[in-house]
Amino acid sequence: MSSSQQCPHDSVSVLDGEFLQDPHVHYARMRESDPTRRVLTVTGMPVWLVTRYADARAALTDPRLSKDYRGMGRIMEREVERGAQRAEVSESIQAHMLNMDPPDHTRLRKLVVKAFTARRIEALRPRIEQITGELLDELAGTERVGEAGVDLLDEFAFPLPIRVICELLGVPEDRRDDFRRWSNTLVSGQDPEAAERAALAMGEYLFELVEDKRRDPRDDLLTALIETSDDSDRLSGEELIGMVFLLLVAGHETTVNLIGNGVLALLRDPEQYRRLLAEPERASSVVEETLRFDGPVNLATFRYTTEPVLVGDVEIPEDELVLVALGSANRDPERFAEPDRFDQDRATGGHLAFGHGIHFCVGAPLARLEGEIALRRLVERFPDLKLAVPDEQLRYRPSTLMRGLEQLPVRLS
Ligand code: HEM
Repeated sequence: MSSSQQCPHDSVSVLDGEFLQDPHVHYARMRESDPTRRVLTVTGMPVWLVTRYADARAALTDPRLSKDYRGMGRIMEREVERGAQRAEVSESIQAHMLNMDPPDHTRLRKLVVKAFTARRIEALRPRIEQITGELLDELAGTERVGEAGVDLLDEFAFPLPIRVICELLGVPEDRRDDFRRWSNTLVSGQDPEAAERAALAMGEYLFELVEDKRRDPRDDLLTALIETSDDSDRLSGEELIGMVFLLLVAGHETTVNLIGNGVLALLRDPEQYRRLLAEPERASSVVEETLRFDGPVNLATFRYTTEPVLVGDVEIPEDELVLVALGSANRDPERFAEPDRFDQDRATGGHLAFGHGIHFCVGAPLARLEGEIALRRLVERFPDLKLAVPDEQLRYRPSTLMRGLEQLPVRLS
């Protein structure tokens, strides 16, 4: 990026580690003085960042902003020729609905949306309660805790959603550590070569899994998807792998951070913790405010302009990459008063943490249910939960799209 493209009021022109530790400080300045601006990702890809609520919401429903992975690949290739680092991820893993426009997107979304209706998901409540109870029992038995405390992400926030999504899809749990590693590497967006290796390993694993299910069909979502793909032309083999990949990654990577970011907000403000403890049925309000205040998805996934698009008063030319800063939109004072205050009593309606428009998160009812049960049962079980390290030692993972801590060391009592 040439210096003439950098904002004179703000030195951030790269979404680097420093930016990702505390994006909200930068977003506040950008919303004020330069709300839609060109920046570089850490791999050197130029992208337009959209930071105001109204612009973000409009961009998420604008059909001139495409998500088609083939078009995206072409633009990224152009940027590689201009000096950006290659971020190659195998096609079968990219061929999923979050990377497609209608009509393909519509066809694929129809195949899974029924499995995630509020009613179907509510039926999972007893099982999620049970898994949560087991994990809390294990946690309570962790009296090796000592000075360093116990990492709540490792011991609680991670295993809960991975167990739930694996059960729903019908994925055996024995590979879940591998799975966690691959998926972390893939979503971090920091190391393209490692991401490519992770994508290949995960792709191979998913092919094996599909073969296993073909031999041994069960009553689970993966078997149902395989039957759809075998019996009709509604789902190709590549799309099947893409779908499983998307559901597995989207279904746990985000929910881990919903739980982690929510617990952190509560621990930072003991009054908010006490309020939840006094009325645990308020957990769903805490979940909504966590989504608004520090949602797991900092930047929505890439889009690109298929023609020049006016965002606010900035015209983004054709064939440019766009990132909608959900985390910034949700703290826009034009939309939410005193946005930097965590307040479980506020009206959070209209937050963009699950996106907006045709790609609105399919898993939102599941994420909300898991978040509600996790936070409620955690504070009930450990009313004196405390951070085990000084606040300034907490580090966010250097991921471009996700917002979540490296570790959350806590003392249980
Ligand atoms: C899409 C956030 C949990 C499955 C999205 C999008 C966001 C999001 C922002 C849209 C991205 C964009 O437009 O660029 C979240 C958050 C979660 C969460 C914050 C947890 C707190 C889940 C879960 C599942 C899931 C549990 C599935 C089990 C999906 C799928 C899409 C999606 C399949 C693509 C939808 C489409 O393209 O039509 N999510 N998600 N998500 N999410 Fe989630």
